[in-house]
Amino acid sequence: MPQIISGAFHYARVHPDQWRPRLELCRAMGLDTIETYVPWNLHEPQPGDFRFDGFADIEAFLEQVATAGLQAIVRPGPYICAEWDNGGLPAWLTGTPDIHIRTADSTYLEAVDRWFDELIPRIAARQVTRGGNVTMLQIENEYGSYGSDLAYLTHLRDGLRARGIDVPLFTSDGPGDHMLTGGTIDGAAATVNFGSKPTEAFDTLRRHRPRDPLFCMEFWNGWFDHWGEKHHVRAASDVAATLDEMLSMGASVNFYMVHGGTSFGVTAGANHDGSYLPTVTSYDYDAPIDEAGRPTEKYWAYREVIGRHREIPAPPEPAEPAVLPQTTVALDSAVSLRAAWDTIATGGHRSPHPPTYEELGISHGLVRYRAHLRGPRQAYPLTLPGVADRAHVYAGGELLGIVNRDDDAAFELEVPAEGLDLEVLVESMGRVNYGVHTGERKGLVEGVLHGGQYVHGWDVSALELPDLPAVDWSVGGAGGPVRTGPALLRGTFDCVSPADGFLALDGWGKGYVWINGFCLGRYWDKGPQRTLYVPAPVVRDGANEVVVLELDRLEQSTVTFEASADLGRADA
Ligand code: GLA
Repeated sequence: MPQIISGAFHYARVHPDQWRPRLELCRAMGLDTIETYVPWNLHEPQPGDFRFDGFADIEAFLEQVATAGLQAIVRPGPYICAEWDNGGLPAWLTGTPDIHIRTADSTYLEAVDRWFDELIPRIAARQVTRGGNVTMLQIENEYGSYGSDLAYLTHLRDGLRARGIDVPLFTSDGPGDHMLTGGTIDGAAATVNFGSKPTEAFDTLRRHRPRDPLFCMEFWNGWFDHWGEKHHVRAASDVAATLDEMLSMGASVNFYMVHGGTSFGVTAGANHDGSYLPTVTSYDYDAPIDEAGRPTEKYWAYREVIGRHREIPAPPEPAEPAVLPQTTVALDSAVSLRAAWDTIATGGHRSPHPPTYEELGISHGLVRYRAHLRGPRQAYPLTLPGVADRAHVYAGGELLGIVNRDDDAAFELEVPAEGLDLEVLVESMGRVNYGVHTGERKGLVEGVLHGGQYVHGWDVSALELPDLPAVDWSVGGAGGPVRTGPALLRGTFDCVSPADGFLALDGWGKGYVWINGFCLGRYWDKGPQRTLYVPAPVVRDGANEVVVLELDRLEQSTVTFEASADLGRADA
């Protein structure tokens, strides 16, 4: 096998109008190949509703990869990890009672097969063996870190072959014995994922697979961030030295990531290491091409190293990146979310136990659960065990407090003789994308308790995100000025020359932002991320609309465009 120098680039994390220039940059860095995952839940948001347009147009992406002079490695999952919501598995599937995901469970495999019937022929048509640029496909993803069901891997391998894949297949795993025994299969080369110590990792691979080529399928040259943690960076000099070591060994490498992009909308995932850790919106990854598509110090360092091992194309033309001018945008319309709720939410679902998001058939958003507590009752703690992921709790129309998952929060609540109306507004964050919590449910998963008694009899309605809520802005003043969250706010700004923007939300609490109806993603004052990336193609020449859904507090009525990204301090 010739030495491959590849880079991970997830099409769904980059605006399609920006794929081309960024792929050109990859080529000029010295890459010969682009690797991408396929996020199933983006392509099949509801059972049987397959999407292959816009951000989901994998065929157009592969075409552009080819036009940029690059080959392609495709990792179709069905599970992808990738800090992507639910590891790419659709919530409508993982929410099926008693399903055993990532195994040969028949309910799971039937859905995988229907999906692969749609997806795989599109990739098969673009294989090098048919005049295209796809050189290799991966089976599952780091399966050895999760399971050991060989029947499942066999089904996937045979299913890819049966659907016309004739280029090499491979698996990728951590360089550990149990991972390589659990994750590998005959008929597919084994590759390993790591960020440092290539000799040790490849020694382990060699012990398991003496004849397989040395391939680091995920060279972690940066890392991702969780809300409330420090921002991760890795020094260019350190990674460039590891790269040189690998290339000198004749090994193939796939930079994870060469360009990370953004987990727009509600696509970011989460981890769970005993407690729930949602992942931020930016997927910059401290990669050689930053979130806004600009080469960083790492880019030049890698290019120099690659240039020592092969001939590389001419450097990219230095470009002065266009950025929206620094401006403050006043959000001068506001409506209270609770006042607007009935006009923007869907539902009217009634059930004894609070249904999960999956039972409601929605993947993400806000769900309002309402119940009536009959009185009198003496004071008992009101608790929301297993809330996923965050809830505003109201009793008698007053906010008792905000509960974060894993908080173990309890509100002492006495109920008068006439009873008390209870309202819980739940927000979902990313579904865990790695490990045993993959496939988790959202909502009031284990119900609501007053003391030891379940609260039963719920009226439920939902505001599904990331769609822009269809707000009637004229209702804003109906209940008087809006002074607290949750609220929706709107403003406009004029633009003469659309460009990328970095939107700062200083003074805001937690929520979501849309520009011209495009959901940039979540913001949260916990950091580390402070600015949200606004891709130039969503900005219009002329008037532009900004909508903010702020959940917690209203101490601010402006947002600002800044000159550069602020993803947080690395040493914070
Ligand atoms: C693993 C997974 C990737 C990604 C990285 C961390 O290697 O295979 O999808 O989650 O970890 O960024």
